[in-house]
Amino acid sequence: MSAGDDPRDAAKPRGFAPSGSADGGFREPLRCREPATATLQLDTEHVRVTRWDFNPGAETGWHRHGWLYVVVPVTDGRRLVELPGGGSVTADLTAGVAYTRDAGVEHNVINDGERPLAFVEVEVRAHPG
Ligand code: NI
Repeated sequence: MSAGDDPRDAAKPRGFAPSGSADGGFREPLRCREPATATLQLDTEHVRVTRWDFNPGAETGWHRHGWLYVVVPVTDGRRLVELPGGGSVTADLTAGVAYTRDAGVEHNVINDGERPLAFVEVEVRAHPG
């Protein structure tokens, strides 16, 4: 599946670049996870705010962050993050407890828990990477 065929692309905000690119980069492996739902809340000169909702086992799909971002979990939950090169990490999220990452992060985020998971992602356009 090429990036342009992925029906999830329609739900992705602009600038949300899939990592399986035509420039010889990483190709997305075959899998059968449900896509998470991205809801764009704000898109201004300075920030883009997206709410992500995951059913159990759902994923964002592989992507690279073009800007610094802050994530505020709406629910408690456990997320699994797949990383380039085949590694992965899990982390417990606590509702209302934020974390931030620099631009350039590339990953696939999966709800590894048994309940729906949601977070709000705030991307800061002043800090590209
Ligand atoms: Ni991400």
